[in-house]
Amino acid sequence: MGFLCLRARDAGSGESGGGVRAEAAGSQADGGGAPGEGLEGDGCRTEMFTMVMNVFMSMLWGGTLIGAHSKLDMVVGTDAVVEESHTSKLPYLCAVMKEILRLHLALLLLVPHCPSEPTTVAGYAVPKDSRIFVNVWAIHRDKSVWEDPLEFKPERFLGEEKKRRWDFSGNDFDYFPFGSGRRICAGIAMADKTFMWSLATLVHSFDWGMRDGEEGIDFEEKFGIVLKKARPLVAVPTFKLARPELYE
Ligand code: HEM
Repeated sequence: MGFLCLRARDAGSGESGGGVRAEAAGSQADGGGAPGEGLEGDGCRTEMFTMVMNVFMSMLWGGTLIGAHSKLDMVVGTDAVVEESHTSKLPYLCAVMKEILRLHLALLLLVPHCPSEPTTVAGYAVPKDSRIFVNVWAIHRDKSVWEDPLEFKPERFLGEEKKRRWDFSGNDFDYFPFGSGRRICAGIAMADKTFMWSLATLVHSFDWGMRDGEEGIDFEEKFGIVLKKARPLVAVPTFKLARPELYE
């Protein structure tokens, strides 16, 4: 599992808001680089990958998350940290998580599946013991299902615009970031809870930015069975809660 290692340092009087600036580093166990070098997104596994994408998306679509910020401030307040009990009251953030998992799922082709009997799928004969890779990456970008499939639009999972259930059950073959069938991800419940909480905490407790002198975000990913960022993401969080002791 991926963890964030937060290391605070005094940012000096020039820092906006006069607060403390923190650097977040992937733990070394995740291959995330040495602590203090920034939030490293390479060499990550599913959880760390998604965690990093949360931050990444927050930065890239900062405007999108303004709504999430204000809702979080309403539900949690600016003088408290996010608790697990808050997460069920944050439907917009849940939609953000689903959208991240639509566009940036870690296992692009799931794990290889193998039919125990010969079968036919959409008219194609599939022999017993075939090795099957399901291209969820392409399915999640299918133009005939998703409006503006390459756009980051959490709203598609909400309210009036929500045409389908699009949950993590694996029963909808247009959206199944955790796979489907008997080999569906065994950690959905844990992933769902920990990611909602992590995402809420990252958005609520920090403002995110880039390192001084850096412009734009490198979006490139490296293809493989497990998707990785082509180059590490370095994100700089700034404390934004009212009391520094909330970060202890
Ligand atoms: C956002 C986080 C995660 C994502 C996106 C994810 C996604 C996946 C996917 C796509 C599969 C393959 C399913 C298939 O081929 O049908 C899988 C399998 C699996 N996942 Fe996860 N997973 C996540 C977190 C976790 C966690 C936290 C755990 C454990 C606590 C976990 C345990 C497993 C196991 C054991 C399998 C293999 C199941 C089997 O083959 O029978 N996953 N996961």
